[in-house]
Amino acid sequence: MKKGKKLYEGKAKIIYATSDKNLVIQYFKDDATAFNNLKKTTIEGKGVLNNRISEHILNNLSQIGIKNHLVKRLNMREQIIKFVEIIPIEFIVRNVATGSITKRLGIEDGTVLKHPLLEFCLKDDELGDPLIAEEHILAFDWATKHELEKVKKMILRINDFMIGMFRGVGIKLIDFKLEFGRFKSNGKTEIILADEISPDTCRLWDSITDKKLDKDRFRKNLGDLIPAYTEVAKRLGILHEQSNVSSVNVTKLRSIKKKR
Ligand code: TMP
Ligand code: ASP
Repeated sequence: MKKGKKLYEGKAKIIYATSDKNLVIQYFKDDATAFNNLKKTTIEGKGVLNNRISEHILNNLSQIGIKNHLVKRLNMREQIIKFVEIIPIEFIVRNVATGSITKRLGIEDGTVLKHPLLEFCLKDDELGDPLIAEEHILAFDWATKHELEKVKKMILRINDFMIGMFRGVGIKLIDFKLEFGRFKSNGKTEIILADEISPDTCRLWDSITDKKLDKDRFRKNLGDLIPAYTEVAKRLGILHEQSNVSSVNVTKLRSIKKKR
């Protein structure tokens, strides 16, 4: 498949056209940003890890019937994906309170929520992705009632599946962000899961130690982001244990696996 012109460049990815109007190529950059671009840097290897981790999660979600944009991974940094019209909402799912909700509502960090909490943010960098209510989505036609109901059902299944998948490898799924899009082909429009699911878009804590294995390592200047993402990939069985990352505690990984 031939890579065409650049269609869009975001903070962490670039989208290129292909010869098929329904498909585009998604390129994972090494750029890391936080707090709506206020803080940024380049972390060598991040894009490669996110490409692999997102591929793994989206393929698993496909297998449980969650339709998504991934067609196939092309190489270390690129995937062929379905070209969708993105619904301009960030769907945030929280199982444990941390991050912005603790500051916004004064909730204690680490509070386990009785039920998954779904929040909606308008996807608009200039406005700082403000929190909105479901009513705003309907009032301004960002999505229809029917689309929202469908998305909410998908989100609950995705959360259940991902909690279990990560629990099985000794990781707690604290919260994450999802995006959905409209895929139009043969005169039909279908709502599918889009964007990446990776340690850039999820908060992942080690089940035993609560060590952060996600982009909070960058947001909070904790360092060692690549070893943390590599550990996630290894635990999910995407990379082999021998892979060249010195700070991964392979012995601990083995003992966690044995306990299960
Ligand atoms: P928050 O606590 O900063 O609102 O983030 C909640 C979750 O959403 C966390 O897993 C990080 C993810 N997220 C993104 O992927 N992109 C974003 O732009 C924001 C604000 C959060
Ligand atoms: N992705 C957002 C940014 O680049 C926020 C975040 O992930 O913290 O600013």
